[in-house]
Order: sequence, then structure tokens, then C-alpha cells
Amino acid sequence: MQNTDKEKKIAAKEAVQLIKDGMIIGIGTGSTVNYFIEELGKKVASGLKVKGVSSSTKSSDLARSYGIEIMDDFEGTMDIDVDGADQVDGNGNLIKGGGGALLREKIVAFNSRRVCIIVDREKMAGDRFGSFPLPVEVTPYFASGTIKHIEKLGSHCKLRQNGNFVTDNGNLIADCEFGKISDPCILEKKIKSIPGVVEVGLFVNMTSEIIVGSENSAKFIK
Ligand code: 5RP
Repeated sequence: MQNTDKEKKIAAKEAVQLIKDGMIIGIGTGSTVNYFIEELGKKVASGLKVKGVSSSTKSSDLARSYGIEIMDDFEGTMDIDVDGADQVDGNGNLIKGGGGALLREKIVAFNSRRVCIIVDREKMAGDRFGSFPLPVEVTPYFASGTIKHIEKLGSHCKLRQNGNFVTDNGNLIADCEFGKISDPCILEKKIKSIPGVVEVGLFVNMTSEIIVGSENSAKFIK
């Protein structure tokens, strides 16, 4: 197992400790969350009673395969959301969407009382925040035109898999290289104001805590 995988698994195991009987859990997407689902599945198999709202068909399928009940919709607020991230800045803001699930991930995070992000150490970007191309979900209709407007904000964008990557919502992902992102709040607002943009992979002031896995232990930040 690669070091980063070990770190992801350690962070995921730590997050499972936060899950208590009766909780409604938001479930993110990605390889780190897959470890969380696996660990949660073990607890469910030994009697823990929880329900989940998942951010992708991939996570739903995996969770169900471990016997975790997944709801497609939920009127209330989830007790906790556990998700991964592509990069974290010094204030706990995130770049997400490497797996293309950013729209549902943001909906799930917004509707959760507590948002717990699980990452390996490489994701803690600090001043490098923005070196991971920012994923933006755009409508297939007029996608090239929409992208031109995002580029005017100072980026170079490429449609993921030349436009062949389709999200669970039937949209496309533009991966946008901005270089360093020092004001994620303003950038998120500017990108979201462009018609054709469905959602931006910047998660600003949304996290309750970041659990960073390291070789043998996990560290809570925030
Ligand atoms: C998916 C995401 C993931 O949380 C992000 O890409 C991290 O993935 P991984 O845990 O595989 O490194 O935002 O849309």
C-alpha cells in the first residue's frame, strides 16, 4: 500500500469513530471516502444503525454493497458529512471535484450539521492552494462558450476527457488552472455568476474539521 493510501485509511478510520448509533450521514466520493465506507460497513455489520445520503452513484453502490442504507433524498439536516478533498488551504477551504461529484458533494455538505474532511498529508496545500486544477461543473449546452468566460477570470480550462466525462447530473467538468488561489471566496462568487456554470469545486467556510492521516496517527485541524 502506498503511503498516501495508508494515510487516507488512517484518516477514514478516525472519522468512523465520530459516527454514533442513529446518525444520518452524508457520504462523499473518492478513494479516501471508499475507505470510510468500508470501515463504516464493518460497524454496520456488527450492529451500528445509521442511514446515509450519498454524493454519487459510485458511493451509493459501494455503501449498499456493505449493507449501509442509502436514502435518495432527505428533508432534514444530516448529522455529519464525511468527504475527501483534492486540496485544503490554510483556512480549511477546499478544492473538490477531482472525482467529478462536486455538485452533490456541495449539496450534501450544505445540508449537514458537521462537515468532516478526511485527507492524506499531500492534500494540505497551504500556499500551493490552486495548483490542483479547479473543477467546475458546466452544462453541456454552450460549454465552450461558458469556459471562455471562466478563462477571462485568469485561467486555462480543459473539458475533462475532451468532454466525454459526464457527471451523475448529466453535465460536464471543466478543469481550470488558475495557479495560486489566494481569495477562494471571491473567485467562487465570480465563477458562479457565469450562466452555464452549475457549481464550482471551491468549498469556502464549509468545513467543521479536517482529519489528516499520517504514518501512524491522525491529526484533527480546526
Ligand atoms: C470527488 C472529490 C474527492 O473528494 C476528491 O477528488 C478526493 O479524492 P480522493 O479521496 O480519491 O483523493 O472531490 O469529487
